[in-house]
Amino acid sequence: MPAKVVVIGSLNMDLVTRAPRLPRGGETLIGRSFATVSGGKGANQAVAAARLGAQVSMVGCVGNDAYGEQLRGALLAERIDCQAVSVVDDSSGVALIVVDDASQNAIVIVAGANGALTPEVIDRFDAVLQAADVIICQLEVPDATVGHALKRGRASGKTVMLNPAPASHPLPADWYAAIDYLIPNESEASALSGLPVDSLDTAKTAAARLIALGAAKVIITLGAQGALFANGTGIEHFPALQVKAVDTTAAGDTFVGGFAAALAAGKSEAEAIRFGQSAAALSVTRAGAQPSIPTLSDVQAFKAP
Ligand code: RIB
Repeated sequence: MPAKVVVIGSLNMDLVTRAPRLPRGGETLIGRSFATVSGGKGANQAVAAARLGAQVSMVGCVGNDAYGEQLRGALLAERIDCQAVSVVDDSSGVALIVVDDASQNAIVIVAGANGALTPEVIDRFDAVLQAADVIICQLEVPDATVGHALKRGRASGKTVMLNPAPASHPLPADWYAAIDYLIPNESEASALSGLPVDSLDTAKTAAARLIALGAAKVIITLGAQGALFANGTGIEHFPALQVKAVDTTAAGDTFVGGFAAALAAGKSEAEAIRFGQSAAALSVTRAGAQPSIPTLSDVQAFKAP
């Protein structure tokens, strides 16, 4: 039986333009292309975990519009269980994304239906949570729902992961005791710790601070600098795999989904981190959110240059 991962979070339709660079305030740029692509941090992590070997259920909300149908359909096409993806009377979540020639992006999200994922909805689908080995949350749904899901997961003895994305302020102090793996990127680690994170050394200091706040284990993803793993006893650096980036959208989501799938399948933490890094490295060589996420056989065949 494949390990069971439950993702609680957002589904967004990504409206993606490619432009030579990101626009400045008040500026109009001529874009090169436009595409609508299934995304949302929650849905991306669900797709990553499914393509990378886990049996996945998604808990979330879409609107009663065409985007909602497409977002749900994209998950069903990956054989993701969508019994807990509710259709609500609102517009589906959208993300407006600009990707520049240096493969960097800027994203504005409008939550729409994702805002209807309340603690009560989590309780309604408690049976789905109870079937999980690993539960993953992010921050594109209401904070009250995330806190409730983390604590419900902890109380049920599940392995609980939080990808605190996007983050602009510290987490509620009482969340930390419910989290097994806290997985921020550099800017999120900075927002959570209140410390600057712009190098390996400053990331180590921030990771130590997050452990002191109560996180059991922290993985800070550092883009081209790799990833940092910290627990109560030490800190380990995992260098990045060098690839030619086309689009970094959903690289973090691919890492989280891959790490969760590998850990749930019985890999060690170090093996699961390296697996997540390989999957994320492959994802940045392809455009879009869900279309960029590799399969298990892609990752197994991947040899970093
Ligand atoms: O992490 C990438 C995702 O962030 C995009 O798919 C977009 O929907 C935003 O949620």
